[in-house]
Amino acid sequence: MLIRVIYVSTSAGPQTSTMTHSILKTAQAWNKANDITGVLCQGPGVFLQALEGERGSVTRLYSRIYADQRHTDVKLIHCESIDRRRYEKWSMAHVSLQELDPGKKIEWPEFDPYSASGQLVMARIDELLASGTVIQSPDS
Ligand SMILES: Cc1cc2nc3c(=O)[nH]c(=O)nc-3n(C[C@H](O)[C@H](O)[C@H](O)COP(=O)(O)O)c2cc1C
Repeated sequence: MLIRVIYVSTSAGPQTSTMTHSILKTAQAWNKANDITGVLCQGPGVFLQALEGERGSVTRLYSRIYADQRHTDVKLIHCESIDRRRYEKWSMAHVSLQELDPGKKIEWPEFDPYSASGQLVMARIDELLASGTVIQSPDS
């Protein structure tokens, strides 16, 4: 049984490139070994992450991420059973919202993942991926 979850959280400290690199390095290795795919979006002070895979693996990973002290106020905003993955190309894609083109920032002035519905958040993530703002290249 495959599931997809999406959560939002607030960075506990400055989002340095060292921290981002460390998270992605762990994520890409563990996720690949455990057949997890997904995307990590990083905005000013905020993380937004989609994880998909076997129900047991996603639950185990989510509980570890939840306990990670590099972020706080972790809120689950979406959880569903799925027939197929959306982010199958990436063990963990990375999208930096800081590097969004100005058009998107204007288009989404009031986007607040803490109050948006899971469907809206997922649609936004898909737009980000489609607009080519992904930093991480797909797994080979
Ligand atoms: C925002 C954020 C996203 C993360 N995403 C993942 C991930 O996708 N996969 C992963 O293995 N670890 C991820 N981590 C790291 C885990 O929280 C944790 O540090 C790592 O799995 C090691 O767990 P352990 O310290 O219990 O051994 C993430 C951490 C943060 C702060």
